[in-house]
Amino acid sequence: MGAILAAAGSAVGLGNIWRFPYETGNSGGAAFILIYIACILFFGLPVMIAEFTIGRHSRANTARAYQILAPGTQWRWVGRWGVLTGFCILGYYTVVAGWCLEYVIDSASNAFANKVSADFVDMFNSFVSNPWKPAVLMTLFMLATHVIITKGVQKGIERSAKILMPVLFILLLFLAVCSITLPGASAGIDFLLKPDFSKVNADVFLSALGQTFYSLSLGMGCLCTYASYFRADTKLPNTALSIASIDSMVAILAGFIIFPAAFAVGINPDAGPSLIFITLPNVFTQAFGDIPFIATALSLMFYILLSLAALTSTISMHEVVTLYLHEEFNFTRKKAAWVVTIVCGFIGILCALSFGVLSDFTIFGKTLFDAFDFVTAKIMLPTGGFFIAIFTGWFLDHRVLRAELSPCRTLHPYIYRAIIIILRYVAPAGIAMVFFNELGFFS
Ligand code: TRP
Repeated sequence: MGAILAAAGSAVGLGNIWRFPYETGNSGGAAFILIYIACILFFGLPVMIAEFTIGRHSRANTARAYQILAPGTQWRWVGRWGVLTGFCILGYYTVVAGWCLEYVIDSASNAFANKVSADFVDMFNSFVSNPWKPAVLMTLFMLATHVIITKGVQKGIERSAKILMPVLFILLLFLAVCSITLPGASAGIDFLLKPDFSKVNADVFLSALGQTFYSLSLGMGCLCTYASYFRADTKLPNTALSIASIDSMVAILAGFIIFPAAFAVGINPDAGPSLIFITLPNVFTQAFGDIPFIATALSLMFYILLSLAALTSTISMHEVVTLYLHEEFNFTRKKAAWVVTIVCGFIGILCALSFGVLSDFTIFGKTLFDAFDFVTAKIMLPTGGFFIAIFTGWFLDHRVLRAELSPCRTLHPYIYRAIIIILRYVAPAGIAMVFFNELGFFS
């Protein structure tokens, strides 16, 4: 149960509440959400089941898992690729987590009071372009992750997932109601519910695919490592379905908070990474402006919970990389954790400053932060997922797969066959097609 909760804690994070709304906003709304849901069904769920199978059967970290299941082959590169991906995501993810900390401080000091939409945009822009603040907060967040990794407060993570996630969920539900009832919110609801397929292009497919892996923590062996702690009789398909459902519900709920409010106060849905930070404070001040105490309490609670949700996700990435260095290079755990914290912290500082002093430093026209986000979510994770599907569908002994998928032989044979077919054909071909489509092969 603890391991499953930890996996859910890894999945639910900034990916759902920060990244999903801004990707949806960039990609035109409802049509993107439909494609995203299809991606979860055809790519996300099967790859999650595959990662669970690899992890639980090998009972090892993601890099060693392939050496155990396919000794002497090149499959171990899939594990290493995942470790590298985790490294890169952790570096810039903590930047956004640092922004959350700033908003915790702002909420506590009542900085949102008496402000209107344009002020929130200014507030965000002046904060992220500050020459040191975002870097310091990012470092703080990285150190918090480091402490938990080295002190090993697993019990604390389980407990926080058990209590905090339901509280976060209820708060999100409440905020969605507040947002939907703002005057002028209906355009936002239309944006979420009325698909406009004229805006769908290759980029939208790639965004939905990337978001699927990102949000579900897939493609880098994170859930594979967590599954190595699952019990032998845990039903992997059911667990995958529960985690994917919780994760998608949180994301869609976040959409129902952000878009009605954004339309109500005149913020463009394609504002990018700033979207939730410039939209949400409006919900607190507009819905509870007359009762400032409630506005403050709600926003404080929200940003604290969001920071904690981010923490359970950063822990999962940090753990994968730390465990790899610890087990494969014989570093002590402490040393391994420091290497990860320092190197990722360095990446994080550069990304944190890429909204201000380093904004002129670009790679293919993208700032460092955007480049890391693009390369990890849209290239590295789907590539990892592609090979994980192929490995499980084609190379793993089917007796192993059958035994893992259905330890008590309770899985319906049709479902088993469907999972195999998806892992062998549908997921790899689908992911490859999204890539080729993006490169312009089909246009
Ligand atoms: N899924 C997390 C979120 O939604 C982020 C995350 C944690 C992640 N571990 C991961 C993303 C591994 C990709 C791979 O915020």
